[in-house]
Amino acid sequence: MFGAPGCVYENEMFWGQDHLEFLDRAPEIQQSPATNSAPGGSSMSVFEKYDETSRHYDKTRVAIGGEILLGCLARHAKPLHELSVLDAGCGTGAYSQAIIGRVGHIEALDMSAGMLEQARAKLAAEAEAGRIRFHQGSIAALPLAADSVDAVTINQVVQHLGDTPEDGFPRLRQVVAEFARVLRPGGVLAFNHCSQTQMRDAFWYYRLCPEGHATIRRRFVPLEVLRAIFEDAGFVNRGSFAPVDAVCQGDAYFDGRGPLDKAWRDGDSFWAHLSAAELEAAQDRVRDLDAEGALDAFVAEHDARRPDIGQITFLFATLG
Ligand SMILES: C[S@@+](CC[C@H](N)C(=O)[O-])C[C@H]1O[C@@H](n2cnc3c(N)ncnc32)[C@H](O)[C@@H]1O
Repeated sequence: MFGAPGCVYENEMFWGQDHLEFLDRAPEIQQSPATNSAPGGSSMSVFEKYDETSRHYDKTRVAIGGEILLGCLARHAKPLHELSVLDAGCGTGAYSQAIIGRVGHIEALDMSAGMLEQARAKLAAEAEAGRIRFHQGSIAALPLAADSVDAVTINQVVQHLGDTPEDGFPRLRQVVAEFARVLRPGGVLAFNHCSQTQMRDAFWYYRLCPEGHATIRRRFVPLEVLRAIFEDAGFVNRGSFAPVDAVCQGDAYFDGRGPLDKAWRDGDSFWAHLSAAELEAAQDRVRDLDAEGALDAFVAEHDARRPDIGQITFLFATLG
C-alpha cells in the first residue's frame, strides 16, 4: 500500500533544511486565545473558534490520506477489524468516518462542543450500533484508562496547543505521553501533520498574507522534532507518508475567489491568524488580481510545488 501511486515517502532533506529556517525565524508566537471553553477549564485551540467554524468546516475540508491511515493501522499484529482506535481531536469526525467500517471500535474525542455536534450527527447510526463513542475533553488529559486502545490517530490538531519552538513543545510532549499511556503494548500511532516544506509551499492562499503565513508556520512543530518527541515517549518511528493526489479542501481549494467567502475560510484556521486589516489587504489582493485577469495564474504559481510534496504527512510509529 505504501508504494501506491499518489503517495510519496517524505524526502528528509527537505525537512532538515526547513528546520534550520524555522529556528532562524522564530520570534514569539502571538497568543490570541479563542473564546470558546471546555469542561474542566482545559484550553481549546489557542487561536481558532471551532464552536463557530464547525458549522462550515465540512464545506471545504476532506479527510485525505484515509488509505495511508488504514495502512498504518493494518500494521498492528491484530486484525484491522478487531482494533480499538482513539481519534484524538476528531473534529467533525471525517477521519473516523473514513475508517469506521474497517476497524473494531472508535473512541472519538474533541474539545469543541460544536465540532463534536457535527461528528455525532454524521456518525449517529454507528454510535447507535456501538461502533463509536464520543468524548468532550482534552488530548492532554484523556478520559481513557491505561492500556485501553490498540491505535491512536491524530489529524491536524497539535498546532492548536500553543507550544512555541523556544519552550520545547511541553504540551505536545504531554499529549504524546498520554498516547503512550492509553495504548496497549505494540500499539500504533498514525499522526497526521504538515511538514515545514508543506506549510511553506502547499497552500497557495498563504501567499496572500506573509505575516499570517509566518505565524502559522511557527505553530507547526518540525517533523524531526516530532519524531524525537515520539522516541522520548517510547515510540519507534516506522515511516512517513504524504498523499500527493488530493488536497485537504477538495475542489474548493482551487477557487481563487474563495478567500472572499467566510464559509470557505472556515475550513482553514490560517485565517484566524490574520488581523482585520490583514484580511482586508489579502481580500483586496484577490479582487485586484481578479480584475487584472491574473487570479488563476497566481493560484497556479503558488500551487506549483504542491502536487509533488502534498499538503499533509502521516508519521507512523509503534509503541515499543
Ligand atoms: C484542524 S481541526 C482537525 C479536526 C479533525 N481531526 C480533522 O482532521 O478533520 C483541529 C481540531 O482539534 C481540536 N482540538 C484543538 N485542541 C484540542 C485539545 N487540546 N484537545 C482536544 N481537541 C483539541 C479542535 O477542537 C478541532 O476540532
